[in-house]
Amino acid sequence: MSHRTIRVSLPGDATPTSDRSYDIVIGAGAMDSIGAALRSAGARRAVVIADSAIVEPHAARVAAVLGAASIDAAVLAVPAGEASKSVAEAGRLWGELARLAVDRGTHIVAVGGGVVGDLAGFVAATFVRGLPVWQVPTTLVAQVDSAIGGKTGINLTAGKNLVGAFWQPRGVFADIDALATLPRREFTSGLAEVVKYGMILDAEFFHWLEAHAARILTRDATALVHVVERSAALKAHVVERDEHERTGLRAVLNYGHTFGHAFETAAGYGTLLHGEAVAIGMAAAAQLAESLGRIGPDIVSRQQQLLTALELPATVAAYGQLAKPATADELLAIMARDKKTLGGRLRFVLPSRIGHVELVDGVDPALVRRVLGM
Ligand SMILES: NC(=O)c1ccc[n+]([C@@H]2O[C@H](COP(=O)([O-])OP(=O)(O)OC[C@H]3O[C@@H](n4cnc5c(N)ncnc54)[C@H](O)[C@@H]3O)[C@@H](O)[C@H]2O)c1
Ligand SMILES: [Zn+2]
Repeated sequence: MSHRTIRVSLPGDATPTSDRSYDIVIGAGAMDSIGAALRSAGARRAVVIADSAIVEPHAARVAAVLGAASIDAAVLAVPAGEASKSVAEAGRLWGELARLAVDRGTHIVAVGGGVVGDLAGFVAATFVRGLPVWQVPTTLVAQVDSAIGGKTGINLTAGKNLVGAFWQPRGVFADIDALATLPRREFTSGLAEVVKYGMILDAEFFHWLEAHAARILTRDATALVHVVERSAALKAHVVERDEHERTGLRAVLNYGHTFGHAFETAAGYGTLLHGEAVAIGMAAAAQLAESLGRIGPDIVSRQQQLLTALELPATVAAYGQLAKPATADELLAIMARDKKTLGGRLRFVLPSRIGHVELVDGVDPALVRRVLGM
């Protein structure tokens, strides 16, 4: 199958000629292009940082492709799971890179989901003040979201993603073949972010998702390429216009996330997957928008129907069925602490129609309580 390419266009940093633009290559077997890409970027060596669960087959395949392009590649495995996005694991990887005598001619290749992408990206951003990094996302979440846009980081006990850096990859290889082995819940969780792109930016894509939900769930390759291509293009578009989250545009990506993070945190780590929490968060946000008179009930129910068709939780009530119920006070307190709130004022990204959202500040907590139904 031929590959699709999405260009992320970014200005140079030090000089106008130091272009930081890169390609996202999408398709079955896309990771096989990585050898040629590193060679043309002048890489002499590579260190592949990989999720331990998928060293075989994916990281081994990447290392073999690099070897065939005469690029010597060491593989470092990171234990699967969010706990690896830690100071301890970053420190261990820095030590390994020093032991391997890594220099600026060495490129880092991240192979895995968002956990490995964020961690390896952060390690690349910081070791010897910055090594080139390439992303080979192997989960749907990583292919449509985390591998694109240059946000890297690790967690502290005090909170998720509290330490990090903006560090754009040199290229992204979203290989649709890798999605075949994803557990069902991990796959559908990624679809929540896909629905999000339709809701915030692209009504036509939202209609396409409605028409093809069943085919997407069978993981039909042609459907998946379109899902990843359209999502990647929308994310790239936002990142190009607000790379460092300064103008407020990148904030549209937080649709469903203020509620979602609160659900995720209150449920306790590992109960709800991120995408499941975002799906319920979008249900809550749509209801809030309706109660503010910003949208009609038809939009709330279309979003609910699409989420349901994609086998995602689709209502605020679903939260109580999936996790131990939290009180509205608990959820509001978590939302007020969100690093995206301003001075404790409640702020939400809310739809005004399918394909369009607005940032709404100073929402009355009583309305939020009513949406939470508590
Ligand atoms: N940087 C960003 O912009 C950004 C955006 C969204 C999310 N994130 C981060 O991404 C992380 C979540 O990413 P995720 O959902 O990919 O989780 P993950 O990286 O933990 O992967 C999920 C699970 O799937 C397994 N896995 C990975 N690839 C597989 C494959 N091909 N087949 C079978 N199993 C596979 C992993 O071992 C893991 O158990 C969070 O830490 C979140 O903060 C970052
Ligand atoms: Zn998300």
